[in-house]
Amino acid sequence: MTVKLKPKQTIIALDVSSLEETKDLLSIVDKDLFRLKVGKQLFTSQGPKAIDKLNSLGFDVFLDLKLHDIPNTVSKSLENICNFGVWMSNIHLLGGQEMIEAATSTVKGLNSEMILVGVTILTSLNENNLVEMGFNSSAEDLAIKLAKLGKQNGIDGVVCSIEDISGIKASLGGDFLSVTPGVRMLQDIDDQKRAGSIYDAIQFGTDFVVVGREITQAKNPEKVLKKIESLIV
Ligand code: C5P
Repeated sequence: MTVKLKPKQTIIALDVSSLEETKDLLSIVDKDLFRLKVGKQLFTSQGPKAIDKLNSLGFDVFLDLKLHDIPNTVSKSLENICNFGVWMSNIHLLGGQEMIEAATSTVKGLNSEMILVGVTILTSLNENNLVEMGFNSSAEDLAIKLAKLGKQNGIDGVVCSIEDISGIKASLGGDFLSVTPGVRMLQDIDDQKRAGSIYDAIQFGTDFVVVGREITQAKNPEKVLKKIESLIV
């Protein structure tokens, strides 16, 4: 089966501390084919000005701060985030029902078009890590439970492992978005434990894939970009 990607289905994680570090990369990324993710590393170093810069270059930005706090703090932080003009942002679903509801009602109340997704279980955690933390369910069961809780409380979709895409889509429907980090085209999985190939992620029906170090730390990022572009129809 041939695996095909849609334009803008691939999100590049800019896990750097300054945009200066990615100047060369940004000059070769096509904004009509890729979206960009700003995470905690870049945001804690450069703040909203990094988002302004990427927006001014025409990129759609996913702000990945995985908000996880008391409902009031998450709600007030999202009010600020909605003003940044980002395409997507996220909370951590382990913050619980009231926090999720506070988050979604804040975004809706502002009439914001920003997509809000929830992190289920980090892809760097495996079953052993979950047992250590006192969870009794398997990673997949827990991810599905959290995804259901998110959907019941108005979230647009989830950030989940490749291993959980099929189960989440089967339980919650094809329209419930899935964003899949920890995908690899070529190399090692680094610190990701529940990772897999970009080809599997697409076949399992994910809506978006996130690729970070495989591009940002590649000896030849252009080669990796071209390889991904060759899958885009
Ligand atoms: O370098 P790599 O491709 O592993 O980067 C994955 C990116 O996705 C990182 O920016 C990481 O913060 C993010 N992420 C993740 N697992 C989640 C949510 C986000 O790896 N559950």
